[in-house]
Amino acid sequence: MKHVHDYLNQHIQDQSIIGMGSGSTIEAYIPAVATYISENDFDVTFVPTSERTEKILIEYGMTTSLDIEKIDLTIDGADYFTPSLIAIKGYGGALVREKQIGYISKDIIIVARENKQTDSFEDLKIPVEINPFLFELTKIQIEEITEAKITDRSDGDALFITDNGNYIADCRFESILDISSLHNTLINIPGVIETGIFDRYINQIVSFGETDFTVYKN
Ligand code: A5P
Repeated sequence: MKHVHDYLNQHIQDQSIIGMGSGSTIEAYIPAVATYISENDFDVTFVPTSERTEKILIEYGMTTSLDIEKIDLTIDGADYFTPSLIAIKGYGGALVREKQIGYISKDIIIVARENKQTDSFEDLKIPVEINPFLFELTKIQIEEITEAKITDRSDGDALFITDNGNYIADCRFESILDISSLHNTLINIPGVIETGIFDRYINQIVSFGETDFTVYKN
């Protein structure tokens, strides 16, 4: 995956503030970006999208901060994507911070293995982060309004709790006419904090295989 890392590194500039995503693809990239920054003697501040990413960045000697006034670029993974620059995220549970950091950034680059490319999000798991208050009732609302089939995200015998102290309902939809309308419908249900539908602001998706990669751009 070295060539993909080199491509991503080309977008890292001295004195920049970089949002860093979560998940195994990003965790594989962090050592490469850390080496690139130290070899070039760059001064880069990272904004981590999860506590886990923050810990790993610090382990690699990188500077992290949430006390920032802008973010130049966010690099993040995805669970599914289309070449038209829409992604589904949140299988790792970090969707809220990923969306906040990504959408505030000037640019977002998504990097994902090529087998995550899809033409349709129908029947795929779409994570929805929900306030624990009236969790069951909120899920009933989601089911009634959107006809979602819902599975609670669990962590062993307990419900999974996000870095923000919320729960996740993994929703599947048999039919999706418009993914952006689905996001708008879900986000308007009281108790829904965020959805894993990333349908705006992605500038590039880097789809990689064993030996090569393809860049989809707007
Ligand atoms: C975390 O909540 C997710 O959005 C990740 O970015 C996504 O799940 C990609 O993770 P992997 O790189 O582990 O597949």
